[in-house]
Order: sequence, then structure tokens, then C-alpha cells
Amino acid sequence: MDENKIPLHIGLIMDGNGRWAKKRLMPRSYGHNAGMNAMIKIAEHAKVRGVKYLTVYTLSTENLLRPQEELDGLYGLFRKYFTKNVQKLYSSGAGVKVIGDISVLPQDVQTLLLDGEKNSPKDCAFWLIFAINYGARAELLRACNLAIEKGEKLDGKSFGNYLYTQGVPDPDLIIRTGGEKRLSNFLLYQSAYSELYFTDTLFPDFDESELDKAIEEFSKRERRFGKIN
Ligand code: IPE
Ligand code: IPE
Ligand code: MG
Repeated sequence: MDENKIPLHIGLIMDGNGRWAKKRLMPRSYGHNAGMNAMIKIAEHAKVRGVKYLTVYTLSTENLLRPQEELDGLYGLFRKYFTKNVQKLYSSGAGVKVIGDISVLPQDVQTLLLDGEKNSPKDCAFWLIFAINYGARAELLRACNLAIEKGEKLDGKSFGNYLYTQGVPDPDLIIRTGGEKRLSNFLLYQSAYSELYFTDTLFPDFDESELDKAIEEFSKRERRFGKIN
């Protein structure tokens, strides 16, 4: 693998948990649990490969319309991650960030997420960014309204300061598992020049070698950013 062509920032649309569970005649929560385990392994591997930011699409604004039982199961997984697994990430010198409107989540989950960010080491070599109740349209409207409130006229540079992803470079590569070929409201502004990679693999089956395959494919893409080579 060409180390000069490792994406600095990967966005990961972790889709297919429900179908993975259905294939096993299990409830959707079983798939989400397996998806969380897959995400933990992928984050470790991304870090080993030299990726600096991994943004995992964990819950979209539209996902909030799912049955409360499924959402409660997901909140339980967030509780588990942010009490137990996050420590391991910290001790490896990595940190977490959260993007999205978490104010609608149960109070204890909000506190865990905010503490998770606060307790992250400074100057991390790797950031795991959870997109939770995240939607690009809501993010863009929020940014515009914040700027209007301040009376600030925006330009390409200052606009980024109003986005949840402030300070994080745009994703170089966006991976979507689960077979659908769409972005489903994920990082629409930031993905203007991202390379897109789609795989039929359902997220719980997306392992280290699958991530390597995506990075390998990325390394072969010619990124022109509108210019001619
Ligand atoms: C992605 O898996 C995880 C979330 C959206 C929370 P899905 O739950 O969408 O799984 P499928 O697409 O139904 O298989
Ligand atoms: C996208 O998956 C959201 C996450 C992976 C968190 P969805 O399953 O919600 O997307 P659609 O409904 O197939 O577009
Ligand atoms: Mg889905």
C-alpha cells in the first residue's frame, strides 16, 4: 500500500445492520450491536493505517423517525461505548468528537458524549468522530442562521467555522457499506471533492481487509479538483 496515498479523513456510512440481523432471523438490535463491534475494529485499523480522522455516520436526523425501541437500543450502545470502549481509544492517544444535534438524546447520553469529547487527549494522532442526529441539511441551515444572528457575511473560509466539522479537513474518501449508492444526508458540503466507494458488504461484515480494499482503491484514483493534469 502506498503510504503517501492514505486518506487523511475517511467518512463511513455504516449501513446494513438491520439486513445483517434479518438474514440471521434476529432482531435489528442484534445487527446494531454487531455493527458497533465492527466499528471499533475499523477505527483501530484506520488508525494503524495512518488515517487521522474517521467520521462514522451513526444516526442520521431521519433515523430519529425510527421506532423508539430501536432508538433506545442505539442509545444503549452509545452508553456502552462512551463508558467502556472509549478508554481504550484514549490510552492509545486518540480522541473522540461528536457532530450533530445531540440535544434531543436522553440527558445521560448527552452528558456521556460531551464528557467523551472533553476527556479526549489534546493533539491526537487519530480522531474518531461520531455523527449522531447528524444531517447535512440541518447542519447547513444551522450554519447560515448562526451567521445571520451574528450579522456576518460568509465566504468559503468563514463558512467552515459554522459547521459541526469546524477544524476538520474535508473527507478524502467516503465509504458506504450495505449496497445503497447514496449519501443519505451525510457531509453534503464537505464531500464536494470526496472520492466515493460503495460496497455491498453489510456493515457488521466490513472488516479490516475490506477497509484496506477501499483505501487501495482510493490510492489509485486520480483527484483533479477541476484542474487538468
Ligand atoms: C445502519 O444500518 C445503522 C443505522 C442507520 C442506525 P440500518 O439500520 O440502516 O440497516 P439496514 O439498512 O436496515 O440493513
Ligand atoms: C444512513 O443509513 C444513515 C446511517 C448509516 C447512520 P440509512 O439506512 O438511514 O439510509 P437510507 O434510509 O437507506 O437512505
Ligand atoms: Mg439502512
